[in-house]
Amino acid sequence: MHDNGSDLRTITLHNGVAMPSLAFGCAFGDWVGRTAFQGFLPEQAWRAISLALDNGYRAFDGARVYGTERILGTLLGQRFASGELSREELFITTKLAHPAAPPHINISHRRTWDADKVEDIAQKVRDDMVDTLDDLGLGYVDLLLMHWPGSFSENTTGDPDFPRKARATIWRTFCELADKGAARAIGVSNFTIGHLRQLMEDVPESERRPTVNQVEIHPYCRDPQLETFCREQGIVVTAYAPFASGAFDLLRNPTLTAIAERHGKTTGQVVLRWHVQSGRTALPKTSKAARMAENRDIFDFALSDEEIQATDSLGTGEARRTCPDPSLVA
Ligand SMILES: NC(=O)c1ccc[n+]([C@@H]2O[C@H](COP(=O)([O-])OP(=O)(O)OC[C@H]3O[C@@H](n4cnc5c(N)ncnc54)[C@H](OP(=O)(O)O)[C@@H]3O)[C@@H](O)[C@H]2O)c1
Repeated sequence: MHDNGSDLRTITLHNGVAMPSLAFGCAFGDWVGRTAFQGFLPEQAWRAISLALDNGYRAFDGARVYGTERILGTLLGQRFASGELSREELFITTKLAHPAAPPHINISHRRTWDADKVEDIAQKVRDDMVDTLDDLGLGYVDLLLMHWPGSFSENTTGDPDFPRKARATIWRTFCELADKGAARAIGVSNFTIGHLRQLMEDVPESERRPTVNQVEIHPYCRDPQLETFCREQGIVVTAYAPFASGAFDLLRNPTLTAIAERHGKTTGQVVLRWHVQSGRTALPKTSKAARMAENRDIFDFALSDEEIQATDSLGTGEARRTCPDPSLVA
């Protein structure tokens, strides 16, 4: 829940950890149809993350697979060195266990979901966590998420229950990492209600229910049932690709434009305000300094119930996704 009496800037996870409502997205890549350079955009990542720190962002959403954790770690280190920042001011998220997907991550032989033995998976996760903390130059992350519930390709292990068993194994490994102090909170990403139910059934002894489910949500892609289920279970929903990654001309939608004009705000600000007022946290990403400031400036106005409903209603048709549909993952 958003903290009582707060201005929606933080949300408290069920284990008591306070999570900022907005974190800067650190996925800098052009991964659609690019093979020659594996899709990475290092110049953009260095510049944008540096500018985001200058602009006051203290929460960052990363992932092992983004290849930007060393960049973030180096930029944080420079600010630790100058005395400008301390670890406690930051909220750092990482995600482990991404499936192989074309083209940028197919070169690694260590991807979690490439394993065909459940027992190999726990060790891959532990190794990846050590590498992530090394790259970040940190002793712990604030939030560790299971990036995807399984592989994008067909299960060829011969065991139809492999993805489910693997998820439970990864989750137990996450619990172990949290117990050792490597993560203050653990959660999942791209999980459907079915994936969540199975996980909670398979690891019932654990008091560590997922704290967060990070999924694709923007005005053209919503799953009210999933959000209701998560709310009932005390799981905070984080919206990734909160602007649909810049696709579908979302930020020029006339309904959003009209709301924005009424409040003297931009459509980007209206979308972010809609996310946090709906009880979600969100991960806006931009390469431009002016937009970084704009995207944080959403706490001085409020949308009416009608405006929330009008924005909700943009997503009642078939979801327009920028990432694969998690319900296709076994
Ligand atoms: N868990 C997962 O599987 C998963 C998947 C995808 C993403 N994510 C996370 O979510 C983060 C954000 O998603 P995303 O990077 O795909 O895209 P996004 O934040 O939805 O959209 C980024 C696009 O919006 C534009 N933009 C940003 N602010 C704007 C504003 N105020 N007005 C107009 N345009 C604006 C940016 O252009 P400019 O750069 O030109 O401003 C860029 O083209 C990622 O970085 C990552 O951390 C997680």
